[in-house]
Amino acid sequence: MFWVVNVQIVIAVCHAVASRHHPEPYYGTMIGPLQEFAHGIRGLVFAVDETTIFIKGFSYDGTGPDAFFWIGNSPRPSPDGIIIPYPEDYRERDPPVLKAHNNTDIILRLPMGKRIRDIRWLSVWCRRFTVDFGEVFIPPNLEVPKPRVLPEFKRLAHGLRSDNISILDAKTFYIPNLHYDGGGPDAYFWVGNGTEPSPFGFKVPNELGSFEPLRGYLGEDIEIQLPGALTVYDIDWLAVWCVQFRHNFGHVLIPKDLDVPPALGQTKISPPWWYNPTTSTTVPPTPTNCREFLDRRLQVKWVMKGDHVEVTLLAKISEDHYVAFGLSGDNNKAQMIGADVTVAFYDKKAGIFRAEDYYISHLSQCDGKSGVCPDERIGGRNDVMVLNGERVNGVTVIKFSRPLHTNEAINDRPIPENDPVSVIAAFGQLNSRLEANAHNMKDRTGKDVQINFGDMDDNQCTLNVEDLPPEDGIKPWPKFKIIGENVFYVKIGPTGDKKGYTKITGLPSWGICYYINDKLIPELYVERGQTYTFVVEGGESTTNPARFHPMYITNSSEGAYKQLSLEKRREQKVYAGIVFDTNGYPHPTAMGRFCEWAHKGVDKALESETFEDYMKTLRLECDDGMPGYLNWTVPMDAPDLLYYQCYSHSFLGWKIHVVDPGYISSQNGGNVNKGTAKCTCHFLMSSLMTIIFVFAYCGLMI
Ligand SMILES: *[C@@H]1O[C@H](CO)[C@@H](O)[C@H](O)[C@H]1NC(C)=O
Ligand SMILES: *[C@@H]1O[C@H](CO)[C@@H](O)[C@H](O)[C@H]1NC(C)=O
Ligand SMILES: *[C@@H]1O[C@H](CO)[C@@H](O)[C@H](O)[C@H]1NC(C)=O
Ligand SMILES: *[C@@H]1O[C@H](CO)[C@@H](O)[C@H](O)[C@H]1NC(C)=O
Ligand SMILES: *[C@@H]1O[C@H](CO)[C@@H](O)[C@H](O)[C@H]1NC(C)=O
Repeated sequence: MFWVVNVQIVIAVCHAVASRHHPEPYYGTMIGPLQEFAHGIRGLVFAVDETTIFIKGFSYDGTGPDAFFWIGNSPRPSPDGIIIPYPEDYRERDPPVLKAHNNTDIILRLPMGKRIRDIRWLSVWCRRFTVDFGEVFIPPNLEVPKPRVLPEFKRLAHGLRSDNISILDAKTFYIPNLHYDGGGPDAYFWVGNGTEPSPFGFKVPNELGSFEPLRGYLGEDIEIQLPGALTVYDIDWLAVWCVQFRHNFGHVLIPKDLDVPPALGQTKISPPWWYNPTTSTTVPPTPTNCREFLDRRLQVKWVMKGDHVEVTLLAKISEDHYVAFGLSGDNNKAQMIGADVTVAFYDKKAGIFRAEDYYISHLSQCDGKSGVCPDERIGGRNDVMVLNGERVNGVTVIKFSRPLHTNEAINDRPIPENDPVSVIAAFGQLNSRLEANAHNMKDRTGKDVQINFGDMDDNQCTLNVEDLPPEDGIKPWPKFKIIGENVFYVKIGPTGDKKGYTKITGLPSWGICYYINDKLIPELYVERGQTYTFVVEGGESTTNPARFHPMYITNSSEGAYKQLSLEKRREQKVYAGIVFDTNGYPHPTAMGRFCEWAHKGVDKALESETFEDYMKTLRLECDDGMPGYLNWTVPMDAPDLLYYQCYSHSFLGWKIHVVDPGYISSQNGGNVNKGTAKCTCHFLMSSLMTIIFVFAYCGLMI
């Protein structure tokens, strides 16, 4: 496999890069000059990192008929060697014959995971006539600059986390398994000086080279490069930072004793195999294979790792649905019969993600012998292993691995190592045995799609993960936000079937949820230090659980404090709405009459184009009595994300975004201080009344 290199970029970058610890410009460890035997070979050779060679000022007259850069570990250059393809282009099966160069700077990436320590010489070699045009020997025990492994991102806010970050070269960070909820309005990768992140820093473009605010990440492996002339020697930290609110979501400190490869562009164009000194392994390049299926409702990412392929499926599916992906029954068309697919889903009861190996012999439900059957039910084996699963913001992500070749000739088809193969994908409903239902196993597009599992950068995905349409094709109503209000009226209402609660949250629901200010689970914005009033009409009848939904404020996305074990309770922090008596027993405080938006007839969510249309199909029904109140002053140390939840049942509420003082006015322009304005007015009125009263009183006295 070969890679593409753009020589111009490489040369441009070379001149911009300098290092603090080395003579400038720094190209890595010097190996020596090429010794010429023929055809004007010239150039000074450097080891950039474990897998990269740089030749400064390479010259060659280009007249050899079959010459290549040639490496090997025999004592002298000999036919016993391999070609370093140059220029790199993995699409070509045969590397091109070396062309003429006059003082060109050249980057050579060693092929097939070879490291500099594995070779003894580099030659310009004419293959057909076995002639050495020029050579340089690699000194034994050559000290080669190495990437540096750092700790992971500190986890401070917005779900930011990663695995250990690496400095690949003087300008490049490798951030594996990056998670971030995308919730910061103005957040960027950010670098600067000092003991911790501060507003005095510089934006670093994202992995696509863009300075847009960061999107959410769901465990991706990315590389970012410092902009301009900045190098890792010029900075003390790398952070994810919200510029507008000067808020640090997490960071990693950069050690001072760095000695990393120069940034010649070797990591820029395509991620190389690089050597991780901590684990003594060669790390494969970050694969960027991604394709969209099923009208862009499913993204499939894959990477081949040795004799396995790792596949990640991303889709907005509900809990009782599965997503299936695998090899078509026929190479050249999308065919169900004979297909070998993996069915992946969330097993609600067990609380785990599953991926199961299926073979489709007939288009019928599995009867234990034939049909759409898990291999395990027809005497085979589940060769698929789940590596990771999560449901984030409505998106289900399941990563699994499967061997290219299994021992089962009947139920499994081999995955070709480097040839296109037809694949199929489907969504469908699970039956009560948690098996895929036959009649649903249908690729709705029906087109033949081929992928090459051995590819490195077949990235044809167009959508951000959050923007994937839901699997059933039903578009949810837009989400509501309430920003700039100080009083929240909390009632109960229906969840809006497939357009409401579950679509918005990606969480299960049992039919009712909170309506605030007559909106279905709006996201509330509150400022630290401000006081907010919740007028709660969720019921107060402790004897009728269906009508007992006191609200409280917590850091749990699930709620239901009453139902939790003591141990689980310790994992939740209650911010308001529950008091604890002297024995430590909890008592909800926001209890009031029960007020519910009830259906006039049957649920009309699917027929209602907008939420406003839906509201017209509901009628407000309230018991007698008074509402409950919850007056909450937001603590200055409250985290960025909290939830309003029901004390007795899970999954009734949704998010409260806690922001710093001043945020809401900046978002809302004039209408922020509605509450304050009312208060001031009220105060003036009462002062005026008092004055009139005083005057009247005084008048009487006089
Ligand atoms: C290489 O380039 C230099 C400067 O541009 C020029 O003087 C020289 O003649 C060139 N050599 C060849 C062999 O083309
Ligand atoms: C990750 O970073 C931590 C903290 O610096 C370190 O202890 C650990 O060894 C690192 N792990 C790897 C695999 O480098
Ligand atoms: C950090 O400080 C060093 C020297 O004190 C300076 O060379 C460098 O440019 C500074 N970096 C930034 C990002 O300001
Ligand atoms: C809620 O807060 C408690 C106490 O601070 C903490 O232990 C727990 O991890 C938090 N839970 C979530 C979901 O953030
Ligand atoms: C909460 O505030 C409202 C007015 O904003 C007030 O009427 C009510 O008495 C307060 N309730 C409590 C329990 O403090």
